[in-house]
Amino acid sequence: MVGNILRAAAAPSVPPAPAIEPAQRLISIEGIARRYRQKHTGEVTVFEDLWLGIDQGEFVCIIGHSGCGKTTVLNILAGLDRPDEGVVIVDGREVDGPSLDRAVIFQGHALLPWLTVLGNVAYAVAARNRSWSKAKVREHARRFIELVGLSGAERKRPAELSGGMKQRVGIARALAIEPKTMLMDEPFSALDALTRGTLQDEVRRICLTTDQTVMMITHDVDEAIYLADKIVLMTNGPGARIAEVVRNTLPRERDRNQMHRLPGYYAIRNHLMDFLVSRSATFGDELAAGRAWSARSVPVVEPGREDAARQPPRGRQPLEPKQLAPR
Ligand SMILES: Nc1ncnc2c1ncn2[C@@H]1O[C@H](COP(=O)(O)OP(=O)(O)O)[C@@H](O)[C@H]1O
Ligand SMILES: [Mg+2]
Repeated sequence: MVGNILRAAAAPSVPPAPAIEPAQRLISIEGIARRYRQKHTGEVTVFEDLWLGIDQGEFVCIIGHSGCGKTTVLNILAGLDRPDEGVVIVDGREVDGPSLDRAVIFQGHALLPWLTVLGNVAYAVAARNRSWSKAKVREHARRFIELVGLSGAERKRPAELSGGMKQRVGIARALAIEPKTMLMDEPFSALDALTRGTLQDEVRRICLTTDQTVMMITHDVDEAIYLADKIVLMTNGPGARIAEVVRNTLPRERDRNQMHRLPGYYAIRNHLMDFLVSRSATFGDELAAGRAWSARSVPVVEPGREDAARQPPRGRQPLEPKQLAPR
């Protein structure tokens, strides 16, 4: 440290380090394909030649129709399935099995029914930190139970909890192991609208404050616009592809209930809807018509960028950024 300071002082010609660190690539999906061999229909290619990079701290959503292979991609990232071609690199290492570095939140909550809320979270914490005392494990688990708003329910068992509460336990458990990556497969799809909104807020707040890297599958376009920095558009299967990546042009501090008033919101929404309604099926025609496209480096589009750059109309106040500090 002292040596570094002395060296820096002795070499004034060295340019100062950039104020902003270059983005650090955490996940690299490199040319993966998944195929199934079936008795009557022969080999089916679910998807192929998928390439995608995710940086540290990025929140990435994947959207695409049922059956295009979203869950399969997530399972491959989790190490629960293997690609037939290509590799996934996480933090410089090829994924070759499950790891506590990559927590998965499933559509169903997958809690251990015989354990309490505290027991479920503590079980994962203890698996992650084998040298910790029981007291330290419990204290750490309690902190994350509090973070997802479940204080007071620590002693309840899953059967005594609502769907929303169970999903909160799943989220607390995933966060408590402090994974490098959180993988979420439609985590809010089974919840009522009110609970879904609240949990989206919680997850967004926690991920922003902890710089968590997230890959999440969703069917819900507004959920993707609210949560994601980047939205990955998958075409319909079989033979699904990543058609393009939409960069979210809305300010990073955004309010779920006010988001539709932000300049650029409708441009993004319309772009996503157009993709789901028609382009996800006709993307092959776009390519046949000569559209320039490379699987390895798909287009990154920014719908609404011009709207976002424009000043808000006279008389309307800019939105207050949402308070992000933990409650
Ligand atoms: N074990 C399997 N054998 C054959 N086909 C499978 C198997 N698992 C998944 N598939 C097929 O792979 C495709 C993608 O599935 P999935 O990843 O669950 O899609 P999504 O999550 O996008 O709805 C589906 O068409 C499904 O039928
Ligand atoms: Mg799925």
